[in-house]
Order: sequence, then C-alpha cells, then structure tokens
Amino acid sequence: MTAKVLETPIFEKSNPGARGVSLPVFGLDSTGLNRISDFLPEGLTRKNLSRLPELAQLDTIRHYVRLSQLNHCIDTGFYPLGSCTMKFNPKVCDLYGQLDGFTQLHPLTPESLSQGALEVMYRLQQYLADVSGFDRVTLQPAAGAQGELVGMMMVKAYFKKHQQPERTQVLIPDAAHGTNPASAAMCGFEVIELKSNREGGVDLDELKQKLSPKTAALMLTNPNTLGLFERDILEITRLVHDAGGLMYYDGANLNAVMGQAKPALMGFDVMHINTHKTFATPHGGGGPGSGPVAVNNKLAPFLPKPYADFDGSQYFLNNDLPDSIGKVKAFWGNFEMMARAFTYISAYGSEGLARVSQDAVLNANYLKEKLKTMYHVPYDLTCKHEFVMTSQRQKVTDPHINTMAIVKRLMDFGIHPPTVYFPLIVAECIMIEPTDTESKETLDRFIEVMSEIDRECRETPDVILNAPHTTPIGKVDEVAAARNPDLNYFSAAKAD
Ligand SMILES: Cc1ncc(COP(=O)(O)O)c(C=O)c1O
Repeated sequence: MTAKVLETPIFEKSNPGARGVSLPVFGLDSTGLNRISDFLPEGLTRKNLSRLPELAQLDTIRHYVRLSQLNHCIDTGFYPLGSCTMKFNPKVCDLYGQLDGFTQLHPLTPESLSQGALEVMYRLQQYLADVSGFDRVTLQPAAGAQGELVGMMMVKAYFKKHQQPERTQVLIPDAAHGTNPASAAMCGFEVIELKSNREGGVDLDELKQKLSPKTAALMLTNPNTLGLFERDILEITRLVHDAGGLMYYDGANLNAVMGQAKPALMGFDVMHINTHKTFATPHGGGGPGSGPVAVNNKLAPFLPKPYADFDGSQYFLNNDLPDSIGKVKAFWGNFEMMARAFTYISAYGSEGLARVSQDAVLNANYLKEKLKTMYHVPYDLTCKHEFVMTSQRQKVTDPHINTMAIVKRLMDFGIHPPTVYFPLIVAECIMIEPTDTESKETLDRFIEVMSEIDRECRETPDVILNAPHTTPIGKVDEVAAARNPDLNYFSAAKAD
C-alpha cells in the first residue's frame, strides 16, 4: 500500500513572486555596490534563479507547524520506548540551557570571561561523581555510545601503562545493550559473549569459565536490557577483579538506580551516564547528546583532557594529565546539554533524584503486573525502570499476528510504539518503559488500550493486521520500502 500524501509538498505550494522577508536586491548594501557577484569568480556565480519554493511567511509557518504536528512527540502523547527512555524533560532545563550567556559564548572565549560556564561544568562533574560514587568525571563524550568507547579506551590505556598487553578480551552478557560489544570491538578488543541464566542475569559458571589472563574487562549493563537488576553484581565484580580485569558499568539506566545505590560502591571502575535517559537532555541520536564518563582513581590518570577544574578562586580547563587518552570531542563537549543536566540535578536535589528512580520503578512494575494478565511476561520478577513482554499469547489466535502488528495498532490510540524485537534474547519482544514522569491516569489508559488490542487480536484480527488506520501514513509495505526506497516526493505524489 502506498503512503497517503497528506501534506502538499512545499515545492508545490510555491507561488511565484511570493516573499516571506524583504532582502536587498542581490547585494550586500542598498546602493547596489558590493554585489556578492563582484567578489566571486565568474565560473562560480549562478546564472539562473534557484528552484526554491516562493511563499509568504504565514504560509511557510503553517506548512512547517502542520508538518511538526504529523509527528508523535512526548509533549503530545505517551512514549513508552524501552531502552531509549523518552521521558518528559522539564521546560526549565531548556530555559537555562538556552540562556544567551551560554548559547552565545564562543568556545574560544578566554577562561577569565567564561567563569559561569566553567563553574557549571565543574559542579556538574561533582554532582555526577556524587550520584555514581566515582572519583572523577569527564563531560566530553557526546552520547552514551561515545562514553563507552572512551571508557574502553581508558581500560586499554590502563593495561598498556601496567604492561599487560595480553589483556585483549572483553566479556559482555547477551542481555547487554548492543552498543557495548560495538564499543569494545571498535577499541580493538575481542568480544566474548556471556549467556544469561534463567533469571535473566549473568551465569556465574559461564563467567568463571570465560575469565582468563586475557580478560581486560567485563561490561555490564545494569539494570540490563530486560529491566532486571543484576542480583549477583558483587560476586561478578569480585570474580573479575580477582582475575585481574576491570569492571565497566553501562549506566545508561541510572534513572532506575540513582539515589538508591552507587555503581562505584558495587566495585565498578568506570561507567558512562546517558544524560538523556536520566537528566533531562535530548537523545544523542537526535542530538546533540551527552554521555559523561565517571572513573575511580585507578583510571583517573587516563581521563580525556581538558576537564573543568577550580583553583580556589578561578575555574579553568585543566590539561595537566600526562597519561590522558587525549581529547575526544571538539572544544568542551556539548555544553548546552551539560547546562540542562545541571539544571535538572540542581532542581531535584538528592531526595528528588531518589524519588525519580522510585517512581520509574513503581510505574514499570505497575504496568508489568497489570499487563501480565493478558500478555506473556518471560521474566516475571520485580523489574526496575522497564520490562519485557511478548505477543506469544496473541499469536495463538492468528499466526499472522505478531509484535510489530500489535504495536502499530497502538498508534491509532495516540500512543508511540514501545521498543520491539530487542533485546534479541526474547522472541517477539515488546520492551516497555513508562518512565517516572507519567501519571497513573496515563498508565491506566495504556493498560486499557493494551486490553482492547488483546481483545481485537482474538475477535477482529484484521483490525490489528491492517493497523495503523488513523496516522498520516498508513500500514507500509516494509519489504517494498526496503527494496525500492521511494525517497523523492515527486514519485510519492504520482503514486497517490
Ligand atoms: C543501556 C544503554 N547503553 C547504551 C546506550 C547508548 O546510548 P546513546 O544512544 O546515547 O549512544 C543506550 C541508549 O540509550 C542504552 O539504553
């Protein structure tokens, strides 16, 4: 089925001669002197007008506002995207992140004139060290995945410094986030997979078998991608340390743990934090993102440089780290994200942050308990901020019904589909994260909708199989879309 074209493309709305703004004719000044073309080589000047759409300002604004309304967003609807955490971010964080003094500060401004921004960075480093229990923090990485890479680079530098080049393997459980093996591999390590046990945790016997003098580190996503806290976490860190390896904590899911437990106290050496999942910034994928890394004193000498520091009277960028892995991001990192995270942490305070994680866990368990009466929950244990269920029971009535069809039907109710088919260790997986910011009313409506969908799977499966029915783009032929991508609006308009 071809997608409906609901919005006339802007090129077709073009009304020759219409203008949104008044600009001087072809020149830099109104006298007609200093034309741009006077300064450009003949071969580079345009001979014909470009084919840009011509529209009045109001028509342009209506076009783009309407387009923006065709998208689902957290400000208009529930977004239970497991693992990617789309929680509501308080607008005050945007407000302070976008203060003129921050957005207009050139990154090469002298430190003496950047004291406010440097103070924010310095204090954010301290806040994050406090929440995680670690000694030092770098704010440079631009996303969680870059934080992982930076963490692994420090692990590598550590073993180089300690003359243990034979430590080339990184152990990673199969319930870890997919970026973990990618980061370890990019850093040149050999990735060794650890199978999960029946409770969704690390299998200690398998771990003991795979630990060796080649082990550089174990990367643990905690809570893991099943939403489960690793029960044997202290035993795992002990075993790895006894084997001479280091412990990496994927702290993207810190929103389930902060204020309750500190990864450094569980025996970890290094962790990254996804500020978009925990501290009110946009997701790195939509950018710009931020993935600070926290380390204990063992790894502190290898931190990227510079980091924000304070000498008692002035804030400054400290480059005095002889064993540093170097700079990993241009200038200071994505500063606006730091200002947002700083605002969020300052506004909540330590008690508030603890409440955030309690609410995230409470909301997830509430949904799990209610939905498990209808949907199959493979790991029916107390979860943290998210949990997984499957479409196994719904499939029984019609073999064509699957997870993809079910979550597409959710769109007709104004709900964004949860993450699906991830983690890979659960067939037909639906991964739900309600986040701390959703009310009981929203959760109850989600349960009601999921119950309605369950009923439809049994009574009117066609409604599920042809969903979504009310969205701007209807059910798409995914195979055709992948094999013959239609990337040009002209052909889409023609097909309609
Ligand atoms: C557990 C976990 N680790 C790592 C990442 C990677 O973070 P990013 O998407 O910011 O690169 C994510 C994604 O949000 C995640 O959920």
